[in-house]
Amino acid sequence: MQTSTTSKLLVSDIASSVDRVPSSYIRQISDRPNISDVDISGDSIPLIDLQELYGPSRANIIHQFAHACSSYSFFQIKNHGVPEKTIERMMTVAREFFHQPESERVKHYSADTKKTTRLSTSFNVGSEKVSNWRDFLRLHCLPIEDFINEWPSHPVSFREITAEYATSVRALVLILLEAISESLGLEKDRVSNTLGKHGQHMALNYYPPCPQPDLTFGLPGHKDPNLITVLLQDEVSGLQVFKDGKWIAVHPIPNTFIVNMGDQMQVISNDKYKSVLHRAVVNSDKERISIPTFYCPSFDAVVGPQQELINEEEDSPAIYRSFTYAEYYEKFWDRALATESCIDTFKISKT
Ligand code: OGA
Ligand code: NI
Repeated sequence: MQTSTTSKLLVSDIASSVDRVPSSYIRQISDRPNISDVDISGDSIPLIDLQELYGPSRANIIHQFAHACSSYSFFQIKNHGVPEKTIERMMTVAREFFHQPESERVKHYSADTKKTTRLSTSFNVGSEKVSNWRDFLRLHCLPIEDFINEWPSHPVSFREITAEYATSVRALVLILLEAISESLGLEKDRVSNTLGKHGQHMALNYYPPCPQPDLTFGLPGHKDPNLITVLLQDEVSGLQVFKDGKWIAVHPIPNTFIVNMGDQMQVISNDKYKSVLHRAVVNSDKERISIPTFYCPSFDAVVGPQQELINEEEDSPAIYRSFTYAEYYEKFWDRALATESCIDTFKISKT
């Protein structure tokens, strides 16, 4: 049994043939998803209804953004404008992709974090010591025409459906960026204007059922390196968010997205909106799929705290130096998804 599993590249192809988690996936006791530490009450992160965003209640909704971004950094949105059909088709084609035979999937396998389209497993197989119970297909998708020909051509509708989804989510992100910019007291196009030509990546995360889900993670605690993440998840729970010293489980609500702030938002807002720890746990009977869209600056964009949010006299000096997103992104992938974020490397030291 052991010999056959060690030759497999993807955890999907190990999961189905083991009744115990292989040792390379087992975390130290102090670093496991201890269920008694988690608030599963369902009373979780804010839910913002975007229906009236362009009506007379805009100011009120912007206020909800300010609260959600500063107190949680995580919120859910409904009436977001991405058609139900688009979401359904995306989820279905993602599932079909991962259900293809191993020989079809591994064609896309690469451990090179610089590749713009690749299937991989865990987080960064080149740098981590313990593996994670996840496979993922990562795609760059802005502008779509630069990347679509690299995307998987099987299932045959993969490219068309993914392009439609990416376009629709991008339109939503641009609306969110305006609302977030306003909620920071900035002009509505400011955040968008700091992103250069903009970047958009997607991951299709596949978490197979796991025989011993208390020994390992789908994804261990981490902060996202990008600007904001818009996450679509299926009906299986698994996401947990760290808030006030506790992990809270975020249970899926159909037709909502989960939005969270990433490191670049923390820098641009000069710590007003923090990038927050989150993780994904696995379970013993159901596979789980999540599809995050990582919206980010283009690699040449120079990111730094916005002038209006800096005030040396009132004791809110610039906390970070400016840097290019390329510089940041490289540092991020170099480390093994450590809980300490690479944002600290860009802090201006107090003298
Ligand atoms: C991620 C992530 C959470 C999830 O891919 O960065 O945090 O629920 N995913 O899969
Ligand atoms: Ni994440």
